[in-house]
Amino acid sequence: MSTSEPIGLSDAPALGAMALPAGTYDGKVVFVTGGGTGLGRAIATEFARLGARIVVASRKPEHLEAAREGLSPLGEVLTVACDIREPEQIAAAFDAAEATFGLPDVLVNNAAANFPVPAEDMSPNAWRTVVDITLNGTYFCAREFARRHLAAGTPGSIINVGASYAWTGGPGFAHSAAAKAGVKNMVETLAVEWGPYGIQVNGLVPGLFPHEDMTADIQGNLARTNDKDVCQPALRVGRPRELGWAATFLASPYARFISGHTLVVDGANWQRRSLTNPPVVTVRDQMGKGPFEP
Ligand code: HXC
Ligand code: NAP
Repeated sequence: MSTSEPIGLSDAPALGAMALPAGTYDGKVVFVTGGGTGLGRAIATEFARLGARIVVASRKPEHLEAAREGLSPLGEVLTVACDIREPEQIAAAFDAAEATFGLPDVLVNNAAANFPVPAEDMSPNAWRTVVDITLNGTYFCAREFARRHLAAGTPGSIINVGASYAWTGGPGFAHSAAAKAGVKNMVETLAVEWGPYGIQVNGLVPGLFPHEDMTADIQGNLARTNDKDVCQPALRVGRPRELGWAATFLASPYARFISGHTLVVDGANWQRRSLTNPPVVTVRDQMGKGPFEP
């Protein structure tokens, strides 16, 4: 083998390995939106392994059940039905969290909405739905968390899960990309506003992390590429546990002076450019759609 043979970035340590000292989150309460599926569950799992009591908030009973099933072997877990578009449901979820475990020390704003659609095909309600869940819901949860901490005079940490098309735009994802750009920008504002009150605010951006809970829409989109590994500079996709290690670091005592930052965990995929551009393929063609019909 020549020394210039591509080898990619080495694989992650095995599931269950811990990046932080055992007990880092003993006595802490971590509130994860959308923590019953995919990356939210992977993040909640790493906090639980490190001693945290977990609150999972999302809409669907089957996702809340999955959270209870996956997390309760690791520690205490509370699940609360909550649509993050509705501020009063968020307040009720925080009331339930406080009554059971106490005020959450960490908020992971992980819940989001997304489906691929050419911008010209998107209905106003489709746009509103994705922006409402991804951007407004993230703000409403952050607001609830911060108001309770400011009133109590206690510190806290917020992590907003984003996406790299916040910087680049995302053909086929105009709604989600615009919403995630708002989420990233919000991290920077809130970190400054709430830092003086002891609240750290950071962003965490996953690259491509396939998992079994991905919606059919997203899976269908990804299925157009058979071997996703070779499309990444790392020559592999992300492992959900890698996002859990990043999140538990960001909210830990070891990262206290990191605030207003957005950490990208994607093996440099969003920086990828070609020496010479490949031919442009429209989003309609990429999605196998016929001509636009008004
Ligand atoms: C076009 C669509 C659509 C689609 C829904 N709509 N799916 N339009 N293409 N595939 C439209 C509907 O027609 C409707 O508009 C509007 O969106 C709202 O749809 P509802 O089904 O009524 O909304 P709701 O029940 O609130 O569900 C929200 C949802 C759903 C976003 C549509 O998919 C959902 O619950 N998603 C949550 C999980 C999720 O999205 N995970 C992805 C995160 S991954 P009209 O006009 O008909 O009323 C991610 C990054 C991945 O963010 C990046 C990977 C590369
Ligand atoms: P996912 O499995 O589809 O998770 C989305 C979660 O959000 C679900 O648990 C869902 O739970 C919850 N949710 C959606 N709408 C909600 C609402 N209105 N109120 C409360 N909860 C709601 O997706 P994922 O891949 O794990 O994505 C997690 C995060 O990573 C998202 O912010 C996403 O944008 C980001 N991301 C993922 C990738 C990737 O490759 N996977 C890449 C870039 C960014 P309910 O249905 O029960 O409400």
